[in-house]
Amino acid sequence: MVKVITYGTYDLLHYGHIRLLERAKALGDYLIVGVTADGFDQTRGKINVHQSLMERIEAVKATGLADEIIVEEYEGQKIDDIIKYDVDIFTVGDDWQGKFDYLNEYCKVVYLERTEGISSSEIRSKEREISLGLIGESQVLNKIINESKFVNGIKISGIYALNTKRINQENLDSYKLYSSYDELLNNSDAIYIISRPKYHYEQIKKALLNNKHVMCEAPISTSKEETEELFALAKERGLILFTAIKTAYSTAYNRLKVLVKSGKIGKVISVDATCTSLESRIDENTWSSFLEWGPTALLPIFQLLGTDYLSKSIISHIENDRDKFTKIDFRYETSVASLKVANGAKSEGDLVITGTKGYIYVPAPWWKMDYFEVRYENQSSNQRYFYQLDGEGIRYELVAFAKAIETKKNTACIIDLVSSEIANLVNDFIKQKDVKLI
Ligand code: CTP
Repeated sequence: MVKVITYGTYDLLHYGHIRLLERAKALGDYLIVGVTADGFDQTRGKINVHQSLMERIEAVKATGLADEIIVEEYEGQKIDDIIKYDVDIFTVGDDWQGKFDYLNEYCKVVYLERTEGISSSEIRSKEREISLGLIGESQVLNKIINESKFVNGIKISGIYALNTKRINQENLDSYKLYSSYDELLNNSDAIYIISRPKYHYEQIKKALLNNKHVMCEAPISTSKEETEELFALAKERGLILFTAIKTAYSTAYNRLKVLVKSGKIGKVISVDATCTSLESRIDENTWSSFLEWGPTALLPIFQLLGTDYLSKSIISHIENDRDKFTKIDFRYETSVASLKVANGAKSEGDLVITGTKGYIYVPAPWWKMDYFEVRYENQSSNQRYFYQLDGEGIRYELVAFAKAIETKKNTACIIDLVSSEIANLVNDFIKQKDVKLI
């Protein structure tokens, strides 16, 4: 019996896939189809696969061409599978020509002609393309533009900025620069906002009233009440209002969260986060350290300990009307938390989560998390966790936003309560409530 194996994502199964499977089957007597797991696809850079693994498996099964279906979960698995299933022929479309020649050592490798004119990516991008308008003055806009290129179904509709000093020339040349926010709204299905937080409330409200979905860099606004009002408005209108903090979308951060919640380090006693940077340019686009870093540093604190803290104290060092350094201490019923943020001072940007059985250490810069360690008194029990992080998490954040719009379900990694509490802190900070100056 000649055994054949082939692999693929098989998202939105199409004619090209079926033709490939038919020819693969005809190469032998028994066909094994490897369907890629969701996490594995992400590491290969396919990040807006529409169907779940189960749906894709069902679709391959429904063709009646596969004798056996397996899941492909890790790099190097093909060699293991070929040995394990005693495979005679490995086959794949010729878009992979040459890439799998190394398998010749284990079985025969056959590249089949790819069917012209059809692909999952093409179907995905035709299905729904969200035109995303960008508003703001930050250099982060350049990253959003860049990362959007990796996400099927998102197209940048243009930019509106009060000034364009920090936007790259090639982006200014490639995208339409609108002269008013209204014009940007008229030409977009959704808006990404990274303007100064004091403008967020008005900008978000206007977008929602114009039936546009919104993704806004945290804080959503500068008060809890306004933030709650905006979430309620979005809900009422069936729109997505998404808080953007890229770290919340990193795979490592999400694994860390579930490990902590499942008791891996016992009960959490303290969360300590530091985020600092030195600004090379100081101009009207320079943010205060708390507005620049506060929401990111607050994320693990509020997500791991909740938002019901009993008291807090804020200490800031201000120069030229801008806080260069801010430290906040929180007291909870049975735990504490602290954050240090600076835009104009430098420190070790790590994250430490102290527990009753052990602790988690995330090295600097923890907000670009791709690795962390779970450490115990007995060092031989320590564990290290590595995950791929593409585009600092922005790419995954855009995918989550696009999916939320498509499915009309708010799949955000940050719940409204955390967003509102972040806004509350920003409000205290702006009003200098409980703030001591040094
Ligand atoms: N394939 C093919 N002809 C096509 C599309 C895919 O022969 N028009 C083959 C691929 O070469 C591969 C298998 O089908 O052997 C599964 O491909 P997959 O990557 O799942 O599909 P694509 O449509 O290429 O997906 P994408 O657009 O996301 O890359």
